[in-house]
Amino acid sequence: MKRRDFLRQGLGMTSGLIAATNSPLTLAQTISQTGFSKPIFNLNDFNLPTIEEGQTIQGKQVFKLRLQQGQTRILADTTTETIGINQDFLAPVLRMKKGQTVKMEVTNNLNETAALHWHGMVLPATEDGGPHQAIQPGKTWVAEWKILNEPSTLFYHSHTHNQTGQQVWRGLGGQMQIVDVDRDADLGIPHQYGIDDYPVILMDRAFDESGEFYYNNTRMNKMRGMHGDVMLVNGVANSVLKPKKTLVRLRLHNASNARFYHLAFSDNRSFQLIASDGGLLEKPTTLRQIRLAPAERAEIVVDLSDRNPITLRSIKGYGNLSMGMMGGGNARYLDQNFDLLHIDSSQSERSSAFKTTQLITLPDWSKVQVTQTRRMSLEMQMGPRMMFGSGGFTINGQAMDMDVINEVAHSNTFEIWELQNPSMMHHPFHVHNTQFKVLDRDGKAPYPWENGFKDTVTVHADEKIRILFPTGPYKDSKIPYMYHCHILEHEDAGMMGQFTVT
Ligand code: C2O
Ligand code: CU
Ligand code: CU
Repeated sequence: MKRRDFLRQGLGMTSGLIAATNSPLTLAQTISQTGFSKPIFNLNDFNLPTIEEGQTIQGKQVFKLRLQQGQTRILADTTTETIGINQDFLAPVLRMKKGQTVKMEVTNNLNETAALHWHGMVLPATEDGGPHQAIQPGKTWVAEWKILNEPSTLFYHSHTHNQTGQQVWRGLGGQMQIVDVDRDADLGIPHQYGIDDYPVILMDRAFDESGEFYYNNTRMNKMRGMHGDVMLVNGVANSVLKPKKTLVRLRLHNASNARFYHLAFSDNRSFQLIASDGGLLEKPTTLRQIRLAPAERAEIVVDLSDRNPITLRSIKGYGNLSMGMMGGGNARYLDQNFDLLHIDSSQSERSSAFKTTQLITLPDWSKVQVTQTRRMSLEMQMGPRMMFGSGGFTINGQAMDMDVINEVAHSNTFEIWELQNPSMMHHPFHVHNTQFKVLDRDGKAPYPWENGFKDTVTVHADEKIRILFPTGPYKDSKIPYMYHCHILEHEDAGMMGQFTVT
């Protein structure tokens, strides 16, 4: 059977995949089934990230962000050297509104160069926070733009040339939310932060014997991407969410360097998918499982009114570790079932049921004029270049070069990009400065969680995908935007290109 047929069929095999975990579990039972060999964790409280909404100064929302070093207790018995934004590890949730002008004052208090990128935003190339906006130690970089994006869950993270993987791994990343609580209230969507609306930022990390992060960019690690055997939600392992209400919105966000998640609840309950990367879908979609590649987000509404304890899980068998030679060996490279987040709704206040069947109307792009079609081939040369660690990760045969503009687009036009993957691994492909529509996947409809607007889409081995998007209103003939694989080790190794919009 060809790999892609297997993947497609896999989605239909719900009952088989979930059968083993089909009965509601008590929290104690779920812990014993995590598969960890040593009980290094106790149950932890859910970590609700601080919110940062900025200060209004002369009509702008001003955010002061400091990149800093610290020590964090992630493992039960030791601390780990970490980096973060306004905190020791990871970052606050930045909240903003469509139409606001935001001003980000980013001060680099690290001992190394860093860049901070606003993933998913439509904005001028000079404000994008990619490798061309590197901030030297001790310096402050100011980015300012008007929020044109629809309300959505976005990602901000390090995008430092060749250093993105290790900086994100150590903690330089967080969630951004463009919110419209009045609209959400009208639509009957949970929208109160920390009451019925929760960020769920998923990461895996590996540790060495002394409790420090293990990050080693060897050839094999580059190829598979860094994975870990410790699962974190908002930076905390083995945590229990006790939501204040029984109807909750979870903003699922895969902030991992390389791990793909195939998510489901321990009792296989259904949930409503309401939004993908770029904001709300037209209608809620009932699902029992969802797959998220690195950088993908999905907002779901879950009804907990039965008050059964449940666990959000990642089911093995999806992603690059599930592919023969890519897994195995080192315990850090586990393709197995993982418990991610326990949910205890026994004390939650009862909310009324979710009855929304229609959300918003999305713009119809079926008749737009497409001015340019480009082909992007995501390649890993498996020959001597790769084997000796000197490259091999390319797009259309070119490795990322800061001095080369690979493509030139025109502002306010629509383009179709045909993404091809002749390599033997899956690659989540991301384009800056836009939200796209996934037109098709090998000529067939995209997965249900790929409806709406997206900024990242997985191109599985041997697949072809077409995406359609507007190039946006901003022009800059010199400073480029990036497109790349969002497995951060692949990005750092060269699977990235640059385009200008003129
Ligand atoms: Cu999420 Cu170019 O990045
Ligand atoms: Cu981005
Ligand atoms: Cu890749």
